[in-house]
Amino acid sequence: MMVCEYKPGLDGIPAAQSSISNVDGQKGILEYRGIRIEELAEKSSFLETAYLLIWGELPTSKELAAFEDEVRSHRRIKYHICDMMKCFPESGHPMDALQASAAALGLFYSRRDLNNPVYIRDAVVRLIAKIPTMVAAFQLMRNGNDAIRPHEDLDYSANFLYMLNEKKPDPLAARIFDICLILHAEHTMNASTFSARVTASTLTDPYAVVASAVGTLGGPLHGGANEEVIQMLEDIGSVENVRPYIEDCLERKAKIMGFGHRVYKVKDPRATILQNLAEQLFTKFGHDKYYDIAVEMERVVEEKLGHKGIYPNVDFYSGLVYRKLGIPTDLFTPIFAIARVAGWLAHWKEQLEENRIFRPTQVYDGKHDVSYIPIDQR
Ligand code: SDX
Repeated sequence: MMVCEYKPGLDGIPAAQSSISNVDGQKGILEYRGIRIEELAEKSSFLETAYLLIWGELPTSKELAAFEDEVRSHRRIKYHICDMMKCFPESGHPMDALQASAAALGLFYSRRDLNNPVYIRDAVVRLIAKIPTMVAAFQLMRNGNDAIRPHEDLDYSANFLYMLNEKKPDPLAARIFDICLILHAEHTMNASTFSARVTASTLTDPYAVVASAVGTLGGPLHGGANEEVIQMLEDIGSVENVRPYIEDCLERKAKIMGFGHRVYKVKDPRATILQNLAEQLFTKFGHDKYYDIAVEMERVVEEKLGHKGIYPNVDFYSGLVYRKLGIPTDLFTPIFAIARVAGWLAHWKEQLEENRIFRPTQVYDGKHDVSYIPIDQR
């Protein structure tokens, strides 16, 4: 057997052959199925992008309408799931609530028929349709309210904001939210996608695949960074405090949240689009002082760490957009999950097409031939 060098974090090791998305980290390019992210953000919708990622081609208008209708008709969640969610502690993190609820879906749709395209399509539709409803339901329930029913007349993103705030959203806010979902839908072999593919490779059900990916996304080094960025901007408090804050982080060798990326050595193209979306929202709904702090941070981090290729990543400006949309900070990562479920499902489907169970090796550096010591002699 060929012995490869051990690389912590599997840095640079291909874990799959994939045609879903591509990143050029030197040039700051991201493509979904070959289409640049900037073009999708401008022209597509989240559901159309999800279709593109999962089925490999842009849908015709008939195919898109059918997909949108299917998703719309599956948005409601079973009252058993609502009852289960009501038992979750209000103080629990919404990502944990989402992971548990996504896994629980598998209890209701337990038939596993991975060779059947109808089963695959049903699972895709159910997960894309129900995850936003579960996120909104937990938000309402933890505040002592009942979950609100999806609004039949509203599209995917507008309906999510409606379920969250119990009122129809402003059209610009809904469109900007939809673009955020497009931007977060997929990103090559990131940690949660890798997790999804490993889980998928055991031929378990897609609800377990998504639940395992949700658990992985929540960490502060991955999707959880978007929450930490807002916390950091609040802690910094003013533009004048930015430089001393960054200098202190560098001295302590602490990571600055929302900066750096394994693949991008320039500014993440999604961060550029999100910054622009934040500015559009500020023009319409009023400025946010934390934006000024963020811009100063970008300037100082570039000055101090630009030579190492450390620039804003997707998590740096997204929180400022969500804040302006009135979304609570601890829902930022669940929203990332609402979007990323499209990518996870695309990878689930691709993994099944040429599956081999993930079973890497390890470099053993422990002991050998150790004698067992009876408990009374230790
Ligand atoms: C996402 O991979 C994806 O695709 C993920 C994602 C997606 O769409 O799915 O893009 C989403 O997860 C974005 C990342 C969100 N996380 C953060 O913002 C947390 C802060 N950033 C980091 O901890 C870090 O940059 C990572 C986790 C994003 C990347 O980690 P790596 O590739 O393992 O890099 P590293 O930690 O080994 O750092 C390499 C060097 C080190 O310096 P040296 O020891 O070599 O001198 O860069 C420095 C690090 O100290 N560095 C940072 C830094 N990030 C890297 N220094 C200060 N602040 C930072 N944020």
